Amino acid sequence: MRFMAEPSAVNFGGKVHGGAVMTWIDQCGYACAVGWSGRYCVTLYVGGIRFYRPIVIGHVVEVRARVIYTGTTSMHIAVDVRSADPRDRRYAQTTHCVIIFVAVDDDGKPVPVPLWQPESADDRALVDYARRLMDLRKGIEAEMDAVRERDEGAPRGSEG
Ligand SMILES: CC(C)(COP(=O)(O)OP(=O)(O)OC[C@H]1O[C@@H](n2cnc3c(N)ncnc32)[C@H](O)[C@@H]1OP(=O)(O)O)[C@@H](O)C(=O)NCCC(=O)NCCS
Repeated sequence: MRFMAEPSAVNFGGKVHGGAVMTWIDQCGYACAVGWSGRYCVTLYVGGIRFYRPIVIGHVVEVRARVIYTGTTSMHIAVDVRSADPRDRRYAQTTHCVIIFVAVDDDGKPVPVPLWQPESADDRALVDYARRLMDLRKGIEAEMDAVRERDEGAPRGSEG
């Protein structure tokens, strides 16, 4: 996806709002997942989004998404955001993340997706990256589950 960073996306500091960038990432990742699977897809997991540098209003934004791993029903999509001043068109990376989508049927039940097979050395490196993230995520999810269980057990109103 390529478009202008419009004034409507501004944050309190005068640059592009992080929420706008997250919307673009989700939209581009969704289009990629639906395109690959040919099915409606839902977002299962958004991995750590890293904002490397701000995006200036009036700059050109480019959002790229690609499949880097498929399971049976899930697709791991790497999304990169770059931006450039339209006067020199020198793109610099601003954001990166990996999103997991699941293809679902009309009842919201996961359905199989076509297998994505790496062809180049770059592709194989991306599969390894996706697998390493999966391993790392297990520890993160264990921590998050512990907090969720604690919060669900807390009495109503305790969040203040
Ligand atoms: C996504 C959803 C359909 C998955 O349902 P589920 O019953 O948990 O699915 P399953 O246990 O059958 O797992 C489905 C896939 O997700 C993967 N998955 C499940 N939990 C996961 C996790 N924590 N991290 C990574 N992958 C996970 C499974 O490995 C499986 O992938 P595979 O078939 O490629 O092996 C369900 O959790 C859901 O509807 N979530 C809400 C989605 C949503 O509202 N998103 C925001 C708006 S789009």
